[in-house]
Amino acid sequence: MDDILVQARDLNRSYRNGREQVSVLRGLSLELRRGEAVAVVGPSGSGKSTLLNLLNGLLPPDSGELRVFGMDQAQLGEARWAELRRTRIATLFQDGNLIPTLTVARNIAFRAGLAGLQEHAGQALLERLDITATANRYPDQLSGGQRQRAALACAFAMEPELILADEPTGSLDQATAARVAPLFFDAIRERALGALIVTHNTELARRCDRVLELRQGALEPWDSALSS
Ligand SMILES: Nc1ncnc2c1ncn2[C@@H]1O[C@H](COP(=O)(O)OP(=O)(O)OP(=O)(O)O)[C@@H](O)[C@H]1O
Ligand SMILES: [Mg+2]
Repeated sequence: MDDILVQARDLNRSYRNGREQVSVLRGLSLELRRGEAVAVVGPSGSGKSTLLNLLNGLLPPDSGELRVFGMDQAQLGEARWAELRRTRIATLFQDGNLIPTLTVARNIAFRAGLAGLQEHAGQALLERLDITATANRYPDQLSGGQRQRAALACAFAMEPELILADEPTGSLDQATAARVAPLFFDAIRERALGALIVTHNTELARRCDRVLELRQGALEPWDSALSS
């Protein structure tokens, strides 16, 4: 049981848009184990970001069962969820998650500190991601791709057990994405993290243990030319 990081059964989630209630997740089920990387694909608006935000506790489901690290989300209060996000669940948001008033190096140190970790191998992370030159720059002085790699370094700096990544290579050109993908996976494999990765990048998806498609509110195995 300890190996199961996420267990979701029959999750439903809708949004109210004015007078209209839009149902986004409909009976979604998912199991994610330690050491397993799962890619999620699906068209824009299919609910991929919504799903990630259910798994990190930023959005509650309307109904259904959700357990993270064996704990029932219905029993987890705001404070417990916040603690999990500081220490065990890293989310790489689609629009980046760097603190604008801190340099890259300080962003990394800050994230490690929040997780209760001492001075961290931030420099090594920057080297691995080929962004050492950005250490003393502020996020608005970086390119989109550099910002994304800095956000990746921050996520790993907290030494999470579960990583939820929303298009982690979305701002990278093909060549950089191809270089960053193995680094991303090395870090995941080395630490036996569970990873749920929303991506349209075939390089990234191909390296995952499974690829699922979010279709009509639920996850299905994705059979495509990807696996060929
Ligand atoms: N806060 C909100 N209020 C109302 N509707 C929302 C809200 N957030 C998302 N939606 C709607 O829910 C649906 C799913 O949104 P979501 O962001 O999860 O999609 P996505 O699969 O991540 O899309 P993309 O690939 O464009 O990032 C969309 O139709 C979106 O317009
Ligand atoms: Mg999204």
